[in-house]
Amino acid sequence: MKYMTAEPFRIKMVEPIKKTTKAYRQECLKKAQYNSFRLRAEDVYVDCITDSGTSAMSQEQWSAMMLGDESYAGSRSFYRLEASAQEIFGMPYVQPTHQGRAADYIMASIYAKPGMYAIGNMHFDTFRGNAEVMGCIPLDFCIMEGQKANQDYHPFKGNIDIPRLAKMLETEAEKVCCIIITVTCNNNGGQPVSMENIRETSKLAAQYGIPVIMDSARLAENAYFIRTREAGYENTPIKEITREMFSYVETATMSSKKDGLVNIGGLFVTRNENIYHRANQLAIVHEGFITYGGMSGRDMDALAVGLQEVTDLAYLEYRINQVKYLGDKLKEKGVPIIEPTGGHGVYVDGRKFFPQIPQHEFPSQRLVVALYEEAGVRAVEIGACAFGKKDPVTGEDIWPELETMRICVSRRVYTNNHLDVIAQALGDIYQKRDTYKGMRLVYEGPITSLRHFTAGFELL
Ligand code: F0G
Repeated sequence: MKYMTAEPFRIKMVEPIKKTTKAYRQECLKKAQYNSFRLRAEDVYVDCITDSGTSAMSQEQWSAMMLGDESYAGSRSFYRLEASAQEIFGMPYVQPTHQGRAADYIMASIYAKPGMYAIGNMHFDTFRGNAEVMGCIPLDFCIMEGQKANQDYHPFKGNIDIPRLAKMLETEAEKVCCIIITVTCNNNGGQPVSMENIRETSKLAAQYGIPVIMDSARLAENAYFIRTREAGYENTPIKEITREMFSYVETATMSSKKDGLVNIGGLFVTRNENIYHRANQLAIVHEGFITYGGMSGRDMDALAVGLQEVTDLAYLEYRINQVKYLGDKLKEKGVPIIEPTGGHGVYVDGRKFFPQIPQHEFPSQRLVVALYEEAGVRAVEIGACAFGKKDPVTGEDIWPELETMRICVSRRVYTNNHLDVIAQALGDIYQKRDTYKGMRLVYEGPITSLRHFTAGFELL
């Protein structure tokens, strides 16, 4: 297959995108108070704000949608989704939800206990929010290498720090209600977790009877990294890898908007029958009946097919290498990114890019604005605004260690030409990086951990 390095698909349907002038984009930015979440998608040329719900579906998924069975209870679509998920997760009980955070809510309702710790590599915002509302304390135990936006190579920067976890459990195990492994680790660059780390975490947790859960929005991307970076898995089929990953945990949640290759939906999957029955009750109250949980029959059918397509090796090779292509182009231009590139996007080190802008003036947010202004490319800040906190006692700002701009690559949506636009524009901004000043936060909503969605800024 020497020459077959191009995309493993051809394009049957296209969606036009709008070209705009810099003056027009500056107007758009002003109206959006310099927050990329508040831009109209129509005014964006290449949209990299997220990889969530933005995948292009295949002809098999679109035709599966026509077979959707919209029966309230026991639809054929549910049983097709259940069988597909059982094959990927290797677990018997499958509760659909309307999207990932609903599965997070159900999971947190069952596993998060008030006054106790939920340990993770790096919890995603939606579990963190759910846990905090329930009075549970989420703690991040990612290895040191994963806590920095640096260029030092480590194959699994999403790993849990096992010695630190072991030490903590020796004295405080009774205060830990659950351990959650997020694959891949979204907040530090879509960085994978190794099979060895999942196994060791699970072994340690079992010694103290602590349940382990996997937040598996990007389960296939993680499996691909295990196959290509971890000794012993070179020839293991992806589905065997996913099943082994889940064999070490009791329960998994999934936002199917990522590796489900669909635009909406989520899953709560478990091997524990009692937990499943509790999840069913919560789903009936908040989501919908057990066999649809907030999804339509056609959406369940599209997901049933998507789960199979995402675990196809040719797809994953294309996917991970496309993200790497963007990372390599940026490196050629000197742009500081988190290395190695992860599964779903490239994360630019905002502090290194704009060393003259202090963290309280939002360097990564400034870069998001510059990239949109120059090229109509929409990325998102994962830094001072998204993760900045206030000390509950003194009210003082606490700034996060990771200060990045995330450029997500949607699945099967953009060509490498689109990625070249991003690399060219960021390279040009990098050339004149000294000319940029920071930003001031002029509006934030009442919940600090959610402020990035609605915040307003001014340019300094
Ligand atoms: N878990 C992880 C690891 C996620 O990345 C997300 C969503 C969720 C849970 C929640 O799922 O959106 O379906 O409710 N991440 C998106 C992102 C929003 O842009 O990274 P959801």
